[in-house]
Amino acid sequence: MLYCLARPILFALDPETAHDLTLEALARAGDLLRFAAPRITCTPRTVMGLTFPNPLGLAAGLDKNGEAIDGFAALGFGFLEIGTVTPRPQPGNPRPRLFRLPEAQALINRMGFNNQGVDALVENVKRARYQGVLGINIGKNFDTPMARAVEDYLICLRKVYPYASYITVNISSPNTRNLRDLQGGEELNALLAALKAEQARLADTHGRYVPVVLKIAPDLDAEQIAIIADRLAAHRIDGVIATNTTTSREGVSGLRHSEEAGGLSGAPLRDKATAVIRSLHARLGNALPIIGVGGILSGSDAQEKIEAGAQLVQIYTGLVYRGPALIREILETLCRGGDPS
Ligand code: FNR
Repeated sequence: MLYCLARPILFALDPETAHDLTLEALARAGDLLRFAAPRITCTPRTVMGLTFPNPLGLAAGLDKNGEAIDGFAALGFGFLEIGTVTPRPQPGNPRPRLFRLPEAQALINRMGFNNQGVDALVENVKRARYQGVLGINIGKNFDTPMARAVEDYLICLRKVYPYASYITVNISSPNTRNLRDLQGGEELNALLAALKAEQARLADTHGRYVPVVLKIAPDLDAEQIAIIADRLAAHRIDGVIATNTTTSREGVSGLRHSEEAGGLSGAPLRDKATAVIRSLHARLGNALPIIGVGGILSGSDAQEKIEAGAQLVQIYTGLVYRGPALIREILETLCRGGDPS
């Protein structure tokens, strides 16, 4: 209801200013917002050994530094994912770098991992009162050579490990040059082996096993998906998030801003992301859980992801277009009868 009033004002602003204002408002409101949160009971589900009060999460990229954790938690999400964070702070790409395509209920972004660095994120997490499931999404600095990318992931893994419920390894952003090359060939094997070795060491040191999941792109063919799925299983990675934004412009051609460089999210991504989930599920069965994300703008979109094989779902662009009403609708759909499946 409130978002119906706020949206025209926010949409009159440049998208990144609207984003910054919303984040600041959520950070200030903190858990005061919990009184407005939907009261919908869901049967909690256990995934990767973690208990999720409901299967709907906030996708990475909206709260890159973990500045508004309590505010987002109060909106009713079952889990939150913050980041992508990099070892050192970096400004990201020059503005403008975020574009609305309202006719398609879509966004194009080329933010380029703008963030305050992993140390600042950890401080924000320590300050938050939130006790629920918190994913921390890690990446590499834009100026770290690809040959040393693994080191960046390991630096972040070590620093966030004590504070994360799970850790997402983002190798699928289209906005960091050559990042997505890590999804293929020997690079993927080397990365996964290094992450698993470090995870085992950290689990020992901290006396707590923190699941590590991989976030992949939607722009992969069937063979690439099969290879990735096999490697995830072989290395015993704990889960997979499908998908990040797409470089495709299918469904938006001719629209204002459609030619902007970057990743496309929202409604035009929906079927592509669902197809990746379906292929992963066909290959993996129940070997490892899938978190479905991409183009969820309604309760039935979320249901479709679950039917394709996802155990949990996340939203970003839908929240921009529909506000917190989308959270309620998704929870009503997925938790009907108290059962999210
Ligand atoms: C993103 N996304 C993203 N993903 C990620 O792993 N790390 C990140 O830093 C970001 N940053 C980011 C910024 C912006 C402006 C957008 C729109 C998206 C991708 C996001 O988490 C999600 O995977 C996709 O947007 C697809 O879901 P939606 O937006 O269609 O629900």
